[in-house]
Amino acid sequence: MAVASVLSARMTDFTPVENDLKALFTHSKAFWPADNGHYGPLFVRLAWHCAGSYRTSDGRGGCDGARQRFDPERSWDDNTNLDKARNLLQPLKIKYGDALSWGDLIILAGTTAIEDMGGPVLGFCGGRIDDLDGYHSIKLGPSTEQQEIAPCPVNGECMSPLGTTTVGLIYLNPEGPMGNPDPLGSFPQVRDAFNRMAMNDSETVALIGGGHAFGKTHGACPLGPGPSPNQQPDDPWPGNCGSGAMKGKGPNAFTAGFEGSWTTTPTKWGNEYFQNLHNYEWTSHVGPGGRHQWQSQGRDTMMLTSDISLTKDPAFWALVTEYASDLDALNNAFSHAWYKLVTRDMGPVTRCIGNNVPPAQDFQYPLPPTPSKLADFHAVEKLINSALEKDPSMVSFLVHLSYQCSATFRQTDYQGGCNGARIRFPPESTWSVNQGTDKIIEWLDVNVKQAYKGSGALSFSDLITFAGQIGLQHTSGVLLEFCSGRTDATDGVGSEFLAPREFDDSNVSVTLLNVRDRQEISGLFAREWVVLQARLRPSAVQQAQGYSGSWSDSTMLSNRFFKLLLLETWKPQVSPAGKNEFVSLEHPGIYMTPQDLALIYDAEYLSIVQEFASDNQAFVDEFPAAWTKITNADRFDGPDGNACEAVRTDSQIQ
Ligand code: HEM
Repeated sequence: MAVASVLSARMTDFTPVENDLKALFTHSKAFWPADNGHYGPLFVRLAWHCAGSYRTSDGRGGCDGARQRFDPERSWDDNTNLDKARNLLQPLKIKYGDALSWGDLIILAGTTAIEDMGGPVLGFCGGRIDDLDGYHSIKLGPSTEQQEIAPCPVNGECMSPLGTTTVGLIYLNPEGPMGNPDPLGSFPQVRDAFNRMAMNDSETVALIGGGHAFGKTHGACPLGPGPSPNQQPDDPWPGNCGSGAMKGKGPNAFTAGFEGSWTTTPTKWGNEYFQNLHNYEWTSHVGPGGRHQWQSQGRDTMMLTSDISLTKDPAFWALVTEYASDLDALNNAFSHAWYKLVTRDMGPVTRCIGNNVPPAQDFQYPLPPTPSKLADFHAVEKLINSALEKDPSMVSFLVHLSYQCSATFRQTDYQGGCNGARIRFPPESTWSVNQGTDKIIEWLDVNVKQAYKGSGALSFSDLITFAGQIGLQHTSGVLLEFCSGRTDATDGVGSEFLAPREFDDSNVSVTLLNVRDRQEISGLFAREWVVLQARLRPSAVQQAQGYSGSWSDSTMLSNRFFKLLLLETWKPQVSPAGKNEFVSLEHPGIYMTPQDLALIYDAEYLSIVQEFASDNQAFVDEFPAAWTKITNADRFDGPDGNACEAVRTDSQIQ
């Protein structure tokens, strides 16, 4: 998630940086001498560890933001000695200044290194925006916040929403589960951990073996790397092996504690890793760093337990066999998987900039381009209004549909939102919160969309958003300018990662944590989040989701929601359909959800609720801007631009 500085003159041609990087790779520095005369492998690891924190569960992690520079990430065990890699890049960062973000520099360093060592590269998507601190990685852990929202009772067996089996590592323990050199126990962890960042088997195997085509492990002696940056900021990870000027560096380096390289040509691309894995017998032993690693008689190369695990699962083994004999297949799989690894957290391709951006990939869930001729939205408005004249009760349903369509957006990895109108397809259409939306879509189709059949001028996503806006106009008198140009997806692929998280909403603390978390992921500020919760929610909508009813069937937007929250006495109960809900003791037909009640149990939310309850005008003033933000959030135009920027976000009150 990138929240910080907007760069002054953003670089769009990265060629000069690539040239500088190539010169840097073979220019060994005394403070951290290059293994085998080439820093390439170190930079590949740097980029992989920066990007590899990404997880699909909530879109957190990834190199956009470059939070690897801050705690907690910078002090993770898995990031040992990557401070040195960033120090090597420092002169380039100074040279290019604000025009080049740390995030772009780190990923470009890894990608250019692969290319420089003869590896296959698909391209580079630039545009990462640096965060100002490590705040957005706190929930990756280790931290109190992580333990609250995603506890991991046994570190080494952590489950989703965490992206790793072991907090503090990128994915899993290389030595094997809980440090046991057990490849049979390791392969399920490898698959599971890579799945949590949307990698399938072929991508997983290509990435591990492609990455380990390069470089070496570092564990010259058992004495460890020394204190981490948060323990010893002036001299982090000094290394305890060796003595004198070379203590802790070069042949005396200690990073992860294993020792050796996977191939005989660690600065040259190839498929030797897979041949070694495939063709030889490997046995476990304890290396000079005191960790379990694997050796093959008569060979100088080594393997980790996680590498050996790829030979123990039939599907992984088939891929190892394929890549060992078919370099082209490996080239193709690795180049695509690497690009996905370092780019997925950037969202749609419309956020990418640079001179070498590949065509949109499947993982970017591309949408068709906006047609050159769009519908006349005054005419669309007339159609909607004449349908509403016949059926005025639809007004609040249109608002509801538009909100549900947009509310999947997450700022963390720029996924979701109404563009594409994936709410029409499974899985979104099957989510409990979307029960009944198919009927509203059908109503729009029959009354409006059919008139544009075959023309392509009116997409469902524009129609849903526009109809929501018209609905808002009817319910509040608020006029908003409409930003058109959305197009439709042909399926719901990608939404599987965006499903509302299940949690125990009978527990107030758990509900509070999850509501807060969802607000943070959405990119909305607390005020924006709170104001939007007062959107109209007719009983039929709530009942379709399994609740007994709602707090209002009014078709007028007002601050009534906030007044009710504060003035009624709420009793928890379970609806006949099994949903936890609250019923008003004073007015038994009025219901709220546990998420609604969270707004008065959280002190910050409560103060906002109190303000809106006493000031309807403040509520009416703030609702439209929050609405505009959520409906246009996914209209990317470059890294931090928005195609709807020109559209006013304020409102006119009739
Ligand atoms: C199961 C997943 C993986 C595990 C457990 C793992 C583990 C390790 C370990 C323990 C090291 C040694 C660090 C040191 O002591 O210097 C290492 C190095 C390295 N890894 Fe991985 N790795 C994994 C996947 C990957 C992937 C996906 C890539 C890139 C595509 C990659 C690229 C590298 C490179 C280039 C090095 C060498 C760094 C150097 O020479 O300084 N690894 N890995």
